[in-house]
Amino acid sequence: MSKIVIVYHSGYGHTRKVAEAVAAGSGGALLVIDAEGNLPAGGWEQLAAAEAIVFGSPTYMGGPSWQFKKFADASSKQWFTMQWRNKLAAGFTNSATLNGDKFSTLTYMFTLSQQHGMFWVGMGMHAPNAKKHTRDDVNNVGGYAGLMTVTPSDASVDEMVPGDLATARAFGERVVEALAELA
Ligand SMILES: Cc1cc2nc3c(=O)[nH]c(=O)nc-3n(C[C@H](O)[C@H](O)[C@H](O)COP(=O)(O)O)c2cc1C
Repeated sequence: MSKIVIVYHSGYGHTRKVAEAVAAGSGGALLVIDAEGNLPAGGWEQLAAAEAIVFGSPTYMGGPSWQFKKFADASSKQWFTMQWRNKLAAGFTNSATLNGDKFSTLTYMFTLSQQHGMFWVGMGMHAPNAKKHTRDDVNNVGGYAGLMTVTPSDASVDEMVPGDLATARAFGERVVEALAELA
């Protein structure tokens, strides 16, 4: 069983693409929150066995999707026994606007992780901020607390910014690095 589990919701496939890139960078297993906000059979057991849980959701109306929130509320069962205490946590969100209030979604995931007594891991990398930089530079959106990616509202899943997907892979590698530091 994978030490890293990436549990995410994606309404239209864009956040799924980011999740897949995080999995490519971390070697983690993907765990999908479905359109009804539920995990597949065995999903909770997979999370119980994980050493790191990476949360992912699109930003909808300035926060996580309701499906992600349903998952978070359902995790109150794990909270009762502090089952996730001392696991590592990290988060990512994708949205259409450059800002789009993505930080609100990451803040929600951070708070969730703290209710569970987890260790939050941020990006651990600089954000490029000079004139020469482009959207294809790693961490160009400039999140520090977690991974932020941007998909214009009329962009298909195949039109996602390569730099964002590279950032997602680097974020996955960061989770592996953090786990190794804690070992
Ligand atoms: C109900 C709804 C609310 C949204 N709210 C926001 C928002 O607050 N900020 C933003 O930048 N984009 C917003 N968007 C755009 C989505 O974040 C964007 O299309 C994202 O790529 C969707 O990811 P998904 O394909 O994984 O569902 C919203 C989209 C929907 C459907």
